[in-house]
Amino acid sequence: MKQDMIAILDLGSTKNTVLARAIRALGVYSEIHPHDITPERLAALPNVKGVVLFGGENRCVDGVNVDVDPAIYSLGIPVMAIDHPAAKVENLPAMPDEAALKAWLFDVCKAEANWNMKNFIADQIELVKKQVGDGKVLLALSGGVDSSVVAALLIKAIGKQLVCVHVNHGLMRKNESEMVCKVFGENLGANLIYKDCTDRFLDKLAGVGDPEAKRKIIGGEFIRVFEEEARKLEGIEFLGQGTIYPDIVESGTKTAKMVKSHHNVGGLPPDLQFKLVEPLLQLFKDEVRACGVELGLPPEMVYRQPFPGPGLGVRCLGAITRDRLAALRESDAILRDEFAKCGLAQKVWQYFTLIPDFRSTGVKNNARAFEWPVIIRAVNTVDAMTATVEEIPWEILKKITARILAEVPGVNRVCMDLTPKPCGTIEWE
Ligand code: XMP
Repeated sequence: MKQDMIAILDLGSTKNTVLARAIRALGVYSEIHPHDITPERLAALPNVKGVVLFGGENRCVDGVNVDVDPAIYSLGIPVMAIDHPAAKVENLPAMPDEAALKAWLFDVCKAEANWNMKNFIADQIELVKKQVGDGKVLLALSGGVDSSVVAALLIKAIGKQLVCVHVNHGLMRKNESEMVCKVFGENLGANLIYKDCTDRFLDKLAGVGDPEAKRKIIGGEFIRVFEEEARKLEGIEFLGQGTIYPDIVESGTKTAKMVKSHHNVGGLPPDLQFKLVEPLLQLFKDEVRACGVELGLPPEMVYRQPFPGPGLGVRCLGAITRDRLAALRESDAILRDEFAKCGLAQKVWQYFTLIPDFRSTGVKNNARAFEWPVIIRAVNTVDAMTATVEEIPWEILKKITARILAEVPGVNRVCMDLTPKPCGTIEWE
């Protein structure tokens, strides 16, 4: 292994990730491990140069303080405790500043600042090869940032032993599935199975207007297609997953409270159990992107805005029809194109169009046109829990409006959603 490591033992502090990031920012790799890791396991982790115990009020679960096995103090690895009553050990009352952290990392732990993406990738390749041997790994490749980066990394590590399945549910944005096939199938030579299931999904969704029912159909059908493909393949023992560090934290560690369940794995039938290969497990989102760049993925794939699993299905409001879906895809492509041209694509967190399931009267070519409106939504947020509306210059809005009205059949009006979250969610369904 190429990198030194600082292990943070999780005693429930909400600042564990802040500290891990601060240590990584100083060039030393840091991982968070459960508080009850055995001293033997801790000592067996590769290149552990120091251990941090982050105490604080969350250390108390159901009236009892959780704690580490005191035998870790005798492993000969430097231990730093913060707000924790560890005897004999350097104990700080609060989070150390950068200078104090540097002094501890480099003078006390004698760690080397050798954490970078090249070394991370080299280490993960070595670990994946060791885990998988000559077995086969199956990966659902949606084309999102996380699954794309995992795919690129696993192709480097095990080549054709990786089988990628890309399911096009017919609700992808313009050219999205094509890009997945081009980048992975052609450029990277992946073992890629492409399933165009547009008809299957749209037939199931026909006439279904309730947002939750739509989401259930899309999610359920997705699992079924993936399961069918998995059953056709022989000798698959492993499942690749783009799980990243925030997914783990949000699902609740042993001590941290659950924010939302992370359901990357959920849904596969019990007889289809795989061992998981999750090489991005310790990365934060910006690090995943950096990893993708280092692996040579195109910027439009790596710096992609968030896109919900049910795709355009939750933006073609009410019961989805093919003509309205086509208009939605086209208007969304125009919005993205214009945002890219004027630099807003890098500035705005999420932007897209919607089409409601009603029409309004207008006039086109001197004749009555009873057609759909397109609604533009463009928001900024840090954590998607709250959001503000981007103030788009009038000239740009006018240009986008003109293009949508001229280029998208069936649309005679363009509107802008000015609602922050709360009280409007980012998506409409
Ligand atoms: P809301 O609409 O709840 O969305 O304000 C917050 C963020 O989550 C995205 N989103 C989803 N992402 N699967 C996903 O992977 C989903 O079902 C889903 N629904 C919403 C949404 O695009 C926004 O970024």
